[in-house]
Amino acid sequence: MKYPNPDSKSAALFRQAQNVLTEGGSRSTIRIAPYSIYVREAKGKYITDVDGNKLLDLNNNYTSMIHGHAHPDIVDAAMRQINRGTGYSFGSEAELALAELLCGRSPNFDKIRFMNSGTEAVMNAIKAARAYTGRPKIAKCENSYHGSYDFAEVSLGVDPTDLSTGDPVSQAYSKGTPQGVLDDVVVIPFNEPEIARRILDENAGELAAVLIDPIGQGLARIAASDEFLAMIGQFCEQNDVIHIADEVIAFRAGWSGLQGERNLKPQLTTLGKIIGGGFPVGAVVGNADVMSVFEADETRAKLPHGGTYNANPVTMAAGLRAMEMMTTDAFTRLNQLGDAFRKGVQEVFDLSDTDGEVQGQYSIFSMTLSDPALGDISARGHIYRSAGLHRYMVQNGYWMTPGMIGVLSTVMDTADVAPFCETLLSGIRELREQKASAA
Ligand SMILES: Cc1ncc(COP(=O)(O)O)c(C=O)c1O
Repeated sequence: MKYPNPDSKSAALFRQAQNVLTEGGSRSTIRIAPYSIYVREAKGKYITDVDGNKLLDLNNNYTSMIHGHAHPDIVDAAMRQINRGTGYSFGSEAELALAELLCGRSPNFDKIRFMNSGTEAVMNAIKAARAYTGRPKIAKCENSYHGSYDFAEVSLGVDPTDLSTGDPVSQAYSKGTPQGVLDDVVVIPFNEPEIARRILDENAGELAAVLIDPIGQGLARIAASDEFLAMIGQFCEQNDVIHIADEVIAFRAGWSGLQGERNLKPQLTTLGKIIGGGFPVGAVVGNADVMSVFEADETRAKLPHGGTYNANPVTMAAGLRAMEMMTTDAFTRLNQLGDAFRKGVQEVFDLSDTDGEVQGQYSIFSMTLSDPALGDISARGHIYRSAGLHRYMVQNGYWMTPGMIGVLSTVMDTADVAPFCETLLSGIRELREQKASAA
């Protein structure tokens, strides 16, 4: 595939989109230079763009499409529901069935509430913790992503604090963030249990919740350590602070999510992505007592929660089928495929003497490069976004995240590993040659 190609249909559509869509689109997080590729069709593990180019999708809509695209069983479930109505002001059997399925997956899950995005799930979990405890503040890790609720965005995309000079401070991500928001978010350093515990202790009396993505940071690139996770659990338990596990991504780790894999006991968990079968979704699930804030007594709930499309039946039907298909065997197979990709990428690094680290967990793999031929090295000695390598992979049929993260789906198999690794190897070699001939 020729990319970029100013004469392509995608380039033309992107130019046209500038007239009516800010940045030419609706998601800051998927923006790529110089233009977005427009998709004609996505089926199974492949995406075909409007110019007829086919890409193996190793992005899977940022971890959502756990069964790839247009899986016939999920399409069938969604279509049957579409033909019976797409939204009405009543409960649906699909909602109940998906709730039962999910609540059956972890002893931490008594009751669930559905909404339309992971962002909403995080927002409602934070509001639930405030409503339950009567306290205003939350704590979160510096540079951890939890969607776009003001409080969850604090101290995202910042230079990591040099802990020898002081503690992290709350920093605005969006311009215009009210000072009150910053004042109510306590920022802790990720994977630094001692310093984080001290900061949490200093704020214990005012904290409603500690919000944590238990799979770690950077889309599973860096795992949370056992010590760090244990410290969060202990702190919350000792101080009656709500432990919120944000498993919007992490839930793809296993049958009971990351919390099952790492034996965590959060009181609230936020879900999204895979549980919607490819449709918009979010959920807050957890301990019945804490979840009772959503329940009205004679007057109204401590946390009234509406939403026209909450638990919309199409999402529920598709999500139910998608999650039914995620048996323990399916998780095992998917995670083994993750191991195979990580092993393959490590072999590529060894063969090509590439300075870098193979990372990722479960069904997500990633690479952090440190070779100056492959991109701009950050102050910390890493290349998190190798535009050159990412582009080479696109040109040769692979769609990863710009941060060189690969997300696997159940419709992929080990036969996909070798061709991917061969392309990666030739990409690394070609970029090196280009750099050498430019010097
Ligand atoms: C850990 C985490 N929490 C929350 C969100 C927000 O989810 P959504 O994009 O559905 O709003 C994301 C999205 O990537 C996420 O990775």
